[in-house]
Amino acid sequence: MNFNDMPLNLRSTFVPPARLLMGPGPITCDPRVLRAMSYQLVGQFDPSMTACMNETMALYREVFCTSNEWTFLIDSTSRGGIEACLISLLVPGDKVLIPVFGRFGHLLVEIAERCGAEVHKIDIAWGEVCDPALIELGIKAVQPKLVALVQGDTSTTMCQPLADIGRICKEHGVLLYCDATASIGGNELQVDAWQLSAVSVGLQKCLSGPSGSAPVTLNNEAVTAIRKRKHVEAGIRTADYVAGQGQRIASNYFDLGMIMDYWGKERLNHHTEATSMLFGARECARILLEEGQDIVVARHKLAGAALAAGLVAMNLQLYGDQANRMHNVVGIWIPPGVAGDALRSSMLLDYGIEIGTSFGPLHGKIWRIGTMGYNARKDAVLMTLACLEQCLLRAGHSLSPGAGTAAALECYGRHA
Ligand SMILES: Cc1ncc(COP(=O)(O)O)c(C=O)c1O
Repeated sequence: MNFNDMPLNLRSTFVPPARLLMGPGPITCDPRVLRAMSYQLVGQFDPSMTACMNETMALYREVFCTSNEWTFLIDSTSRGGIEACLISLLVPGDKVLIPVFGRFGHLLVEIAERCGAEVHKIDIAWGEVCDPALIELGIKAVQPKLVALVQGDTSTTMCQPLADIGRICKEHGVLLYCDATASIGGNELQVDAWQLSAVSVGLQKCLSGPSGSAPVTLNNEAVTAIRKRKHVEAGIRTADYVAGQGQRIASNYFDLGMIMDYWGKERLNHHTEATSMLFGARECARILLEEGQDIVVARHKLAGAALAAGLVAMNLQLYGDQANRMHNVVGIWIPPGVAGDALRSSMLLDYGIEIGTSFGPLHGKIWRIGTMGYNARKDAVLMTLACLEQCLLRAGHSLSPGAGTAAALECYGRHA
């Protein structure tokens, strides 16, 4: 079809509507990240590009609180970071222990199974976290090579305490992989102090960026396991190339050894770096570190507490074990008689505010509201509560008008 004969919407540039993204992610991007992503490209091995890659590694070492040399980006959404870690660490037949306390624990199970691993689950009731003692029992019973878990599972809003689990894994000589996609930046994450072997994350939650880049960090044990499986593609091998003794990693794109050869001094060609995502990821780290890790976590904690106080004051009931709730997402039971999806739709279309539904057993039962990254702000919290109040009133929910924002303001006042 001739371009001019196409419908007008196809011929026009897509301009997204203004939205305040207060769901469980993605969230509204920090404009500084968008600006960084709009810079012109440079060549893949341009010295300015490789310098930017090295700087990004250094910045993410700080973000992850680690001295791990191998701290770099996977060009993918967060699940690609998970997949890269698991497929590079696991050989078919390896045993893996996975506590599952939400949708993203199930995702780890699925990916580990696809890696050919023998997966052993610890099923935890949704809305709770896993007692480290259960993990120690599981390690003794199963003797796994790897424990894999999620720090902040957005599906249930729970944040798994990790320090004891890292120690237990270390004592038993077991690797510990953690998906901290949704928790990093908004909740404490100490990769070295907590002895985590491999961690992958994403930008689209508390790091204030878009999805599409997955920062990872690997400690020495993880690197050794990956290096044993060293492989370099035919056509780019150097004269001194010696293949690793271990089984070749089943994925080409997610072969962490090959990606390390690209980020490391070898600079062996792998994929074409997603340059604009690199610029964005670098800016995300810079924004976080400029404000200060502890201050950013405290900002998320306060935003989450103010939101939760406002929701309770609106006669709503919070979901899950509040002692272990992520700072950056609050779950609430949808009140009886209120149509959950219709209310979310009104929030979006009448007020331009997105809040989250939920998955699987919780679908239609809870809403999830995020206060993350760029949106972990007082005005965003108050605006969301004020608009939600109107939607709830129209849906027939009984509440005391103004009580929600008043409670949130009071919470902010206590911490001023
Ligand atoms: C804890 C967790 N892990 C993994 C993912 C998957 O991330 P992505 O959609 O960027 O692949 C998400 C997304 O919400 C998440 O919350």
